[in-house]
Amino acid sequence: MLTKLESALFWCILYLGTAVIFWNSLDYFLPNTMHMFLFERMELTMQDWWKYTLYAHVIGGLTCLIASLLQYSKLLLKRAPKIHKYLGHIYALSILTLVFPTGVALSFVAKGGTSGTVGFLFLSVATLVTLLLGMIAIFKRNIKSHQAWITRSFALITTAITFRSLQLMIAQTDISPETNYQLSLWLSIAINLSLAEYYLYKQNNRNHKSKQK
Ligand code: HEM
Repeated sequence: MLTKLESALFWCILYLGTAVIFWNSLDYFLPNTMHMFLFERMELTMQDWWKYTLYAHVIGGLTCLIASLLQYSKLLLKRAPKIHKYLGHIYALSILTLVFPTGVALSFVAKGGTSGTVGFLFLSVATLVTLLLGMIAIFKRNIKSHQAWITRSFALITTAITFRSLQLMIAQTDISPETNYQLSLWLSIAINLSLAEYYLYKQNNRNHKSKQK
């Protein structure tokens, strides 16, 4: 079973990471402010299609991230299953209509060259596929499979937090910004998917043991 400490640490990082990304993203929308990332990508910022796709992406990303935060609460699931369902709809809709299509479009001009493009395309497709498998599972009332696939989709969405944290850490070394970007992207996918599989493995073990009792 996941220890209480592991679980508390995980949720602290997640809530803090979401708050930081939210706070940081305000610069995209507040009047008289310009986000640092827009300065970094000045040539693209001049192009309306890219700018508006990025804005839609940030809105979609924040929506699904925030909608997912309470979904693992056992209390909510027990006391107010309708809220779980409602938040689940928001999560799925924001990925299907915003995060996935904008993620694909932005991938082709992303930083990090071919490695960046392939990494973001992989992230987009993997997020879509895991979400669809999670949705199919719940339509079939297969709770175990629903939990497993949505956990993988959640792990991919939260790479947004791991990616930025790794970038900050690697920036303290001699590694070039280009390599840092590529490394952080691929490492964040690998770390988050491994953590999801670790969580699912522990859950399975716990369920197996409680059935044996
Ligand atoms: C399937 C998941 C995701 C994919 C495939 C994806 C893809 C991308 C791509 C390709 C870019 C442009 C990068 C560049 O031009 O170098 C980007 C930027 C960005 N994404 Fe995502 N993204 C995903 C999830 C999220 C989530 C959940 C958030 C949460 C808020 C988010 C927030 C942002 C922000 C704020 C930027 C602008 C760069 C920055 O301010 O750091 N993304 N994303």
